[in-house]
Amino acid sequence: MIDYKKIRAEFPFFKNNADQIYLDSSATSLKPQVVIDAINNYYTHYGTNPHNTDSDLGYETNVQYETIRGKIKHFINAKKDQEIIFTSGTTYSLNQIAYGLSDLIHAGDEILITKQEHGANILPWYRLASEKKGYVKFLPEKNFSIDLEQLSKVITAKTKIVSFANVPNILGYENNPMVIIAMIKKINPEIIVVVDCAQGIIHMPTDVQKWNADFITFSAHKIFGPTGIGILWGKEELLLKLKPLIVGGGMNARIEGNGSDYLLKGLPDRLEAGSPNIADIFGFGAAIDFVNRLTLKEIISYTHQLKQYALEQFNQKLKDKVIIYNADAKAGTLVFNVKDVFCQDVATHIGSRNKITVRSGDHCARLIGEIIPDKNTIRVSFSIYNSYEDIDLLVTALANETAFLGRLV
Ligand code: ALA
Repeated sequence: MIDYKKIRAEFPFFKNNADQIYLDSSATSLKPQVVIDAINNYYTHYGTNPHNTDSDLGYETNVQYETIRGKIKHFINAKKDQEIIFTSGTTYSLNQIAYGLSDLIHAGDEILITKQEHGANILPWYRLASEKKGYVKFLPEKNFSIDLEQLSKVITAKTKIVSFANVPNILGYENNPMVIIAMIKKINPEIIVVVDCAQGIIHMPTDVQKWNADFITFSAHKIFGPTGIGILWGKEELLLKLKPLIVGGGMNARIEGNGSDYLLKGLPDRLEAGSPNIADIFGFGAAIDFVNRLTLKEIISYTHQLKQYALEQFNQKLKDKVIIYNADAKAGTLVFNVKDVFCQDVATHIGSRNKITVRSGDHCARLIGEIIPDKNTIRVSFSIYNSYEDIDLLVTALANETAFLGRLV
């Protein structure tokens, strides 16, 4: 059972911002003290580079660093440690995949995504398609999820890559990777399937082997970890085919004197050029331990409860004033607009007058306007440090603000 009061006490943010109601965890989650301590611990006690194992301390840093890689492997049920590539986050990981697969795409080839994708899962594919004279096409959607009945109709002999979020960042209706990937691979096992788990990593269990995914991506900062660190996971044989997006130290075994040739190291080094973000990897390890301690199951169940409560309160107290876009989505977000008031006006008003942080706009998913009538919305996202009281305060603030803002329109 999640005891939000105990959990809140683990987040120093609330000690320093006691009056803040934080309802924007889909943008970034807050960090528990254990994560901050782990980052501090690296700088205070280790300080060395895991690439240099000549000293005892350097060796110990390397051991910790690789242990965390192993934890992440378990968290997503990958087969091997070396399939876990540390990156700066989901955006980098998706760019690396698109760049790394560029030799696979030829004129006329097709890459399929959905219209709910975040810009990070749109632009790398558009760039690749335009450079290779290929096309980005869209997966069919029904009730805001990938339409399984129509899926086979959009896959052609030209389809090379399919990339989708298992939990899209605005509406949060789930796409079941296992079912979708099985359908795609049945049509053509050569199609590469990428699952963007940026939001999904905290909203559903990730099991890359069960899913039979080819690549997945996510960021630590959505699961109570630090910013600036994330994961690219891929099947070993596919990671070995990726052309590195950046080159430099740590990833090559030999460079010819005239620079004409170089030999790449094996995995994971070949895709991790440069000194790693060591401190944040320590923090990432602590975040995984934190989630495992609470259990992902309990986290998911608690955020579902909060969403249900919010929905009830909205329906009881704001019914005629708001339009809700994702009432029956499982993930812990509520997406809505106040009738006749621009979303950002509402968000900034409750942000400054009531100290309630929510997100407004198109949430970087620029094609969402083709899926819901209003591309700009307010998104409230729940986490383990939120309470029913936070929701009551939100509802009261919205009721007051709608009365106030309503008079201005
Ligand atoms: N991708 C983040 C969001 O959905 C920033 O808010």
